Amino acid sequence: MTLFETVFRGNDTVYELTEQLITEAMEKYGAEQSVGFPNTAYCLPCYYAVTGVKIKTLSELKDALSVVKSLMTREPRLKDAFMSGVATALCAEFIEALKYLNGAEPYEAPCYGHLGDATIRELGVPLVTGDIPGVAVILGEAPTQEEGVALVKSYQAQGILVTLVGGIIDQCEAAGYKMGANVRVIPLGKEVTSVIHVVSVALRAALIFGNITPGDSAELMKYTMERVPAFVNAFAPLDEVIVACGAGAIALGFPVVTNQTEGVASVPKSLLVQPDVGRFNTTSLEARNIKIKVKNIEIPVAFASAFEGEIIRRGDMQVEFDGSRVDCAELVQTCEMSEVEDHKITVIGPEADDMELGSKNSIAYVVKVAGKNMQPDFEPVIERKFHNYINCIEGVYHTGQRDMQRIRISKDAYAAGFRVRHIGEVLYSQVKNEFDAVVDKCEVVIYTDPAECKRIRHEVAIPVFNKRDDRLASLTDESVDVYYSCILCQAFSPSHVCVVTPERLGLCGAVSWLDAKATHQLDPNGPCQEITKERVIDERIGEYEDVNEAVRKFSQGALEEVSLYSIMEKPMTSCGCFECICGIEPFSNGVCIANREYAGMTPLGMTFPELASMTGGGVQTPGFMGHGKHFIGSKKFMKAEGGVERIVWMPKELKETVAERLNATAKEIYGIDNFTDMIGDETIATDPEELVTFLTEKGHPALGLDPMM
Ligand code: SF4
Ligand code: NI
Ligand code: NI
Repeated sequence: MTLFETVFRGNDTVYELTEQLITEAMEKYGAEQSVGFPNTAYCLPCYYAVTGVKIKTLSELKDALSVVKSLMTREPRLKDAFMSGVATALCAEFIEALKYLNGAEPYEAPCYGHLGDATIRELGVPLVTGDIPGVAVILGEAPTQEEGVALVKSYQAQGILVTLVGGIIDQCEAAGYKMGANVRVIPLGKEVTSVIHVVSVALRAALIFGNITPGDSAELMKYTMERVPAFVNAFAPLDEVIVACGAGAIALGFPVVTNQTEGVASVPKSLLVQPDVGRFNTTSLEARNIKIKVKNIEIPVAFASAFEGEIIRRGDMQVEFDGSRVDCAELVQTCEMSEVEDHKITVIGPEADDMELGSKNSIAYVVKVAGKNMQPDFEPVIERKFHNYINCIEGVYHTGQRDMQRIRISKDAYAAGFRVRHIGEVLYSQVKNEFDAVVDKCEVVIYTDPAECKRIRHEVAIPVFNKRDDRLASLTDESVDVYYSCILCQAFSPSHVCVVTPERLGLCGAVSWLDAKATHQLDPNGPCQEITKERVIDERIGEYEDVNEAVRKFSQGALEEVSLYSIMEKPMTSCGCFECICGIEPFSNGVCIANREYAGMTPLGMTFPELASMTGGGVQTPGFMGHGKHFIGSKKFMKAEGGVERIVWMPKELKETVAERLNATAKEIYGIDNFTDMIGDETIATDPEELVTFLTEKGHPALGLDPMM
């Protein structure tokens, strides 16, 4: 059989199965039974992306089969094979959708099945920064458990997001390998059709970030080929269905690497036969042109962004440091060149060996940096990265910051030889690595002696923190001469530009004005450029000729004018990775805000994914705006429409997170005490009428404002 015939046969097999399953489902549930995946605004995302049609019922699903059939041409040409691959993928999506009928939860741990839109938005920033340099799809059963696990681990150690389908999941489970989205190893499902859940992620990325018009399949495939760094590793033996799925992957630009030697032949850049599974990693990275930043840190455990979300439970920990109970601190200190000895790491006080198993201890680390371009403004920027650096250590967990950090070292990491001084190694290497443009020399002093920790915390660190807070409070949009652009997300949203000001951070929540300033300093031709603010057009909505010029230039003309402070007039665009989205709520003259983590309904009759799907891809959508969490308490939040007093609803958890700042702002601008008590949440109402009743009872100020439209 030729490869084409295999693809066609596999496609036919899956098509027949799909047809049969749909018929059975219709007999059981009726034609009007609704169809769809949870936590997505895109119904059946792959079918929607490819055709532009949203399938919502079983009868529509059945009708869609004829569209799928039209792709299944049978000329022995590459194009026909690719389209049959796409048809196979769509059938797989139909089959998977049927599993979710009638509210079923078809997947159980460790498998994930369908991944919600929020997961894709979370991946935005790490993908553009290269923290996640690629996406691996591993399919089938490795020749041996050892080889399979080693392959998974090799990608994980490079920060690559790994998705697993089929026998490899059992192999990882049998080896006791830790899997989960938090460590970026995601078992999708054991049946081959579950591979569609990663395809669905890639296609939704095109819709969310790329502003690709659903149904424009040519642009869609161009987007996935150019911008989604995914690839497939498929273990022998490949059956015809897997081969047909592989053709679909290749059609999207994802190369397939396999150890099957019979019946397949390499096609450069797309199908690669690699008999040695030990070389899958290198072959795949070469085929997809993925470059891994090499990190040579001298520590006895792995260091990769994949370990950032790893959690260490009490029973698994060797020792703990806890700033909420004992004296702790983390601090960057700008010093003179002569005061710093590069790469010197000192531990003052006991090492982990001298700490009792399971004990709580003090820790304070002072990272002394020197460099002629170093500015004290960069200290908090560097310091804030410590969380990420320490968390990336395998078997080490870090939360909090300043003098409230908490660190756990796992028993496994300890057994592997990890000690307190290695934290110093990591801090040194990462600071030198990432901040090389401003840091010429770096030295780390780690205190574990309780008296010394107390001294460092109270006499050194806290005074510095207080000084910095004063500096931050004095940083207003009016007090600075320049704003910054950020175009990091253009890797996925080619026309999106964030304008970052002291009072309005980037919508991802990860880029403050100080961050942008530091980024500009570190890489003057990089993603953050200075924008002057001399030519005011309209003070009220925050429109400047300088800013307009900049967005025109950085969006390559896609965007003409933006305002900084309005959601209705020329609002800023969104890429797709926003932490929150706000949308107008007409009955109360206010806005509702939902954050990415919130899975429930909002009074707008839409969930976060649905709201979010109304904006993104770098286009302006008046009435809806993506933004960072921190922006909610800003005096510039929707200033043009009256400011924070327009906020009528937020999920409870978000409300609690932002309460302190938001209440202070409301007090200062309007003289309102405890403003958050007037704001609805899901425990109060998710229905607009009930919400208005609540707001009326509380005397919420939005009710008395002019309608926004
Ligand atoms: Fe992306 Fe804007 Fe964040 Fe920059 S500031 S990373 S462009 S969301
Ligand atoms: Ni400059
Ligand atoms: Ni983004």
